[in-house]
Amino acid sequence: MSSDPASPRIPRHLAVIMDGNGRWAQRRRRPRMIGHRAGARAVNVCIDFCLDVGIEALTLFAFSSENWGRPEDEVGALMKLFLGALEREVDELDRRGVRIRFIGERDRFAEAIRARMAASETQTAGNTRLQLNIAASYGGRWDIVQATRALARDVAAGRLDPEAIDEALLGARVALADLPAPDLFIRTGGDMRISNFLLWQLAYTELWFTETLWPELDTATLRRALADYASRERRFGLTGEQAAGMQPGGPTKPENNE
Ligand code: IPE
Ligand code: IPE
Ligand code: MG
Repeated sequence: MSSDPASPRIPRHLAVIMDGNGRWAQRRRRPRMIGHRAGARAVNVCIDFCLDVGIEALTLFAFSSENWGRPEDEVGALMKLFLGALEREVDELDRRGVRIRFIGERDRFAEAIRARMAASETQTAGNTRLQLNIAASYGGRWDIVQATRALARDVAAGRLDPEAIDEALLGARVALADLPAPDLFIRTGGDMRISNFLLWQLAYTELWFTETLWPELDTATLRRALADYASRERRFGLTGEQAAGMQPGGPTKPENNE
């Protein structure tokens, strides 16, 4: 496989719903938490793969807005696992050139976790090999709401004319606005849904689903996803002929494409 990041065959930005930890454990008659622990190991498989093939940005859905509603002991154990993973993994990720960022509603986390998140971001801020975005306490609806609130603040302060609000302005306020939109979305665990992940950002992302449960993730599965992605024709609402002449990543200004 090519490792040229400029190749249109390799997604620049991969977004992943890491699903199936609970079922993986239940099939082994083990508590769900064992699945989450195994899932944490699979994160490294995914990051290694991205570094290996030259993917520029990886966004992992680690914990959704709705996941706060799970049983208290599962949420508590996930928080412990999350904090432990941050304490354990960040130095190595830093050494390998990974820049870490968190997206989501941070205020809902305990102070110890928030402090670790901020420290990881600061420590890795200068890295450029892979942009790793961890969506934690994240929901696509929350994201659009916080972007709307930011625009409303500008309107209220007299800095913004409501008539000037367009897709570009709102799009600049949602999470990951500085990155190209995800080219490829992968969900493990067999369910074919978005589950409130990046609702705005996935508008023209290629979707790929696998029955593989997250803790079983391997390089072969990821290679299959990339091979499928490479065979797709992305049209962004245009005709096949127009799309063939387009830059990878799609039209920058669709309204100007005639
Ligand atoms: C994904 O695995 C991890 C989180 C949502 C935190 P699940 O815990 O949702 O696993 P299943 O879907 O129940 O198997
Ligand atoms: C989506 O998985 C969230 C994460 C993987 C973090 P869920 O397991 O929460 O989604 P549903 O409940 O199957 O839609
Ligand atoms: Mg699930």
